[in-house]
Amino acid sequence: MTDSASTAASSFGPARILGIETSCDETAAAVVEDGRVILSNEVASQVDLHARFGGVFPEVASRQHIRTIFPICEIALQQAHLELDELDAIAVTRGPGLPGSLVIGINMAKGLALSSGLPLIGIHHLEAHIYSAWLQWRPHNLSAEPAGVTPSEPRFPLIALIVSGGHTELVLMHDHLTYQRLGGTLDDAAGEAFDKVARLLRLSYPGGPAIQAAAARGDPRRFAFPRAWLEDTWNFSFSGLKTAVLREVRRLQETRTELPVADLAASFQAAVVEVLVGKTLQAAQTFNANQVLVAGGVSANQALRETFHAQAGCPVHIPPIALCTDNAAMIASAAYFRFLRGQNDPLTFDALPNWPFHEL
Ligand SMILES: Nc1ncnc2c1ncn2[C@@H]1O[C@H](COP(=O)(O)OP(=O)(O)OP(=O)(O)O)[C@@H](O)[C@H]1O
Ligand SMILES: [Mg+2]
Repeated sequence: MTDSASTAASSFGPARILGIETSCDETAAAVVEDGRVILSNEVASQVDLHARFGGVFPEVASRQHIRTIFPICEIALQQAHLELDELDAIAVTRGPGLPGSLVIGINMAKGLALSSGLPLIGIHHLEAHIYSAWLQWRPHNLSAEPAGVTPSEPRFPLIALIVSGGHTELVLMHDHLTYQRLGGTLDDAAGEAFDKVARLLRLSYPGGPAIQAAAARGDPRRFAFPRAWLEDTWNFSFSGLKTAVLREVRRLQETRTELPVADLAASFQAAVVEVLVGKTLQAAQTFNANQVLVAGGVSANQALRETFHAQAGCPVHIPPIALCTDNAAMIASAAYFRFLRGQNDPLTFDALPNWPFHEL
């Protein structure tokens, strides 16, 4: 999308979009102006409900979304000091995600669109993770920005790495909403690998933050875990690494010594970070990218963030931690750029639980 397109839209005043996200275990609603300025961003996490199952329990997630969706949308509007009829569109995650979770957000969005007459915009969850890079906090929230990261607008062409609980995708973008998928994981997603290895090490759920905390006390060079470089492709693989950690854990258990959890966590994390950063920066160089974007829950990882900033030869944008994991501001941001193109989905649209990124 050209600058002239956004200038044309802005001549009618700012566009305020209510975003709704219920693809997994977070019930979230947010109001964002012109795809960039967050007026409100409410997230009701279900993490405590699922912790005892060691993962997301779909039926429990769906029931909790039903309880939370209405109040969270109300609070998001209140925090933005806006009424429904002051908005310009309603946006919602259409997929991918858990079917029973997606439909709760979609039905709420449809109800709001029907009663207000506003356009309804269905959004791909991974596209939204990418668009978290366009979000800028209001001044009172600027302290949430990590040091050295300016909230400036990303510049095309850019390489986007999406690393989340269910996905790992490497994408080249020449313009807004235009994606050339370079590669992705052949097996486990990066976040899934963190979660599975955390379980192996008997760390708490969710695994990513638990591994990060354990790794902070460990030696990343103690165990030489494999790095799957998959040369000549832009793909990733994390299942061999997970198996290597499992084998090491079993070997150590046979020796009946106490498990060196911190060293195992640090060595695992180092292997993931090295490959993610190495391949992404190699892609940035190969495709002459102006910028790298990193998004999704795993981009909250401190070692990953530090390594990107230390090794990159071009600007790297990683969202503030609160915008790395699931939120609705990113849904409203992506929706703004689709709104500019006139997207208005019919009230009859369905959830797409397995919506592949390459079909965007
Ligand atoms: N500090 C961290 N270090 C590593 N991984 C992390 C960290 N914080 C969160 N994660 C991981 O991020 C994932 C959750 O991210 P996100 O909310 O984007 O995933 P999701 O929405 O469940 O999946 P998807 O976006 O693929 O549908 C989990 O796997 C979690 O372990
Ligand atoms: Mg997500």
